[in-house]
Amino acid sequence: MSSSVVSMVLGAVAVGALFIATPRKLGELPGYDDVKPINFDHYAGRIQLQNDQKMFYWLVEAEEKAAQAPLILWLNGGPGYLSVKKNPYSWNRHANMLYHESPFEVRFSTTVLNATEYNDSTTTARAVEFLRNFLKLYPKYNNQPFYITGECYAGMYIPWLVDSLIKTPIPGINLAGMAIGNAYTDQDIDNESYIDYYYTHGFISMKAYTAIKS
Ligand SMILES: *[C@@H]1O[C@H](CO)[C@@H](O)[C@H](O)[C@H]1NC(C)=O
Ligand SMILES: *[C@@H]1O[C@H](CO)[C@@H](O)[C@H](O)[C@H]1NC(C)=O
Ligand SMILES: *[C@@H]1O[C@H](CO)[C@@H](O)[C@H](O)[C@H]1NC(C)=O
Repeated sequence: MSSSVVSMVLGAVAVGALFIATPRKLGELPGYDDVKPINFDHYAGRIQLQNDQKMFYWLVEAEEKAAQAPLILWLNGGPGYLSVKKNPYSWNRHANMLYHESPFEVRFSTTVLNATEYNDSTTTARAVEFLRNFLKLYPKYNNQPFYITGECYAGMYIPWLVDSLIKTPIPGINLAGMAIGNAYTDQDIDNESYIDYYYTHGFISMKAYTAIKS
């Protein structure tokens, strides 16, 4: 998660982050050791869905003009894969970042269903419900430009969610765009692109490249 805010220890955020029905503003972050002070507001908690599933989020507001800045949803890829590190180019210099732990049991989100009952369509439905509830909790984000971003397996989450939002718009969600890095999309296409990547980054020779391609 290279888009993360400055040095932070995610574990610290979760301390006491039980389900709450009101926004919970965070202050200090234990373990935060940067010379730059925390010059933005941030909130975390779990939003409960109808099936009792509790979805963890961390909302990191923009350093400046948060009220006018777009809202960017970040969906990390493969479940359980998360890293937070110092980044002088953190996106929350100009945007409000909403990190949402999806689909289930990804760290602090909790599940109530059997794991075998989860798939891309149920994950999408939960994300939609999460967004509806999020807007109720943070009404100031209604109609702000909304972007969906992520990496890796979010190559699935994001197109599914965008497709859903286009077919069944959520009032208040002003979908402006999406961005995916290092996307998992289709194994055949992805596998082909690895070889191009290896070759164009000097990992394999032209001879090996040509041999594999043929
Ligand atoms: C989940 O479903 C699998 C396969 O149907 C089953 O073997 C397992 O016992 C179930 N686990 C729970 C906790 O219900
Ligand atoms: C996804 O899971 C739900 C509930 O477990 C099930 O009803 C649905 O058919 C599944 N969808 C796919 C595409 O497997
Ligand atoms: C793609 O590569 C993975 C390993 O990286 C392999 O498990 C999978 O079978 C490959 N898929 C295809 C369609 O070649």
